[in-house]
Amino acid sequence: MTTRKLLLLSGDGIGPETMGEVRKFIAYMNEAHSAGFELEEGHVGGVAYDTHGQSISETDMAKAMAADAVLFGAVGGPKWDSVPYDVRPEAGLLRLRKEMELFANLRPAICYPALASASSLRQDVVEGLDILIVRELTGGVYFGDPKEITDLGNGQKRAVDTQVYDTYEIERIAGVAFELARTRSNKVTSMEKRNVMKSGVLWNEVVTQTHKANYQDVELDHMLADAGGMQLVRWPKQFDVIVTDNLFGDMLSDVAAMLTGSLGMLPSASFGAPDEKTGSRKALYEPVHGSAPDIAGQGIANPIAMLASFAMCLRYSFNMVAEADQLEKAIANVLDRGVRTTDIASDGIKPVGTVEMGDTVLAEFKSLMG
Ligand code: IPM
Ligand code: MG
Repeated sequence: MTTRKLLLLSGDGIGPETMGEVRKFIAYMNEAHSAGFELEEGHVGGVAYDTHGQSISETDMAKAMAADAVLFGAVGGPKWDSVPYDVRPEAGLLRLRKEMELFANLRPAICYPALASASSLRQDVVEGLDILIVRELTGGVYFGDPKEITDLGNGQKRAVDTQVYDTYEIERIAGVAFELARTRSNKVTSMEKRNVMKSGVLWNEVVTQTHKANYQDVELDHMLADAGGMQLVRWPKQFDVIVTDNLFGDMLSDVAAMLTGSLGMLPSASFGAPDEKTGSRKALYEPVHGSAPDIAGQGIANPIAMLASFAMCLRYSFNMVAEADQLEKAIANVLDRGVRTTDIASDGIKPVGTVEMGDTVLAEFKSLMG
């Protein structure tokens, strides 16, 4: 029997609550469909700091390196606002990304038909929206050296972050974006700030060259990242795949997420390069929303982004395409029937909690799986 090694890192805030719903799907698939998932557990973020004084321990880091896929909940919260910078909760996530070399972050923004009215934008602007942000995840200003605050000795301090990209880093993320565009509407928009940043000049050049060398069948546009942000809220349906750097991708993906009605709905996947021997990629799946400390522990968090992240995991790490399709369909059906958590509640509908939403999607999934 196949075994599928999954590491669950629930983290902080609403992470454990939403991960709890995924566990039910895993148990069901193991029992009813002999899926062979083997679960490992670990700590990341504030909970890891409280337990081992580190944002992720060496042991858990080793588990992540050995797993077929990692499911990640969320990290951070006011409780850890004053812990040292190096061991702050977010450092655990950044370490996972860097050491697993997860350079490609896929953030789909899909507007479920049932939620078009929940967006802060006009319904006709977002209805049917289906875009994919491909964010570079292991380079740029997040990791560049120097990264420091120095005391200038005259009562002033100086803070430096370094935005840096090498050709190969841009080439490989552009390749991922072009390949994915071919499976969708065949269009890539690359975003940078070549008008003020040298890294933007190189980004633009390398994306253009990569396109010319291998992907001329795909349509390519370039936009300055600020204008891109504006176009995202003006008419998001003009985009198919957007490829951009680590920092712009962080910001633009939050904007794109909000277009769809709720940050609580969107999954993401992060991939490394294919292994030379096995062809499999290291992968981590996480909801785009954060730890939401304001609602943590109340049982009202929306588990859909976490469930949809699990669906991406089934599709991309385990090639369980039918199961992924059915899970995504189960989510859409439940939303069509008007089942809502508080974050996406509409007038006159009594919202359900995390567990009830998870159970309802699971029941629908079971009936779709037959
Ligand atoms: C994200 C988050 C992270 C980031 C934080 C938690 C470090 O905002 O995944 O978008 O900035 O990348
Ligand atoms: Mg972010």
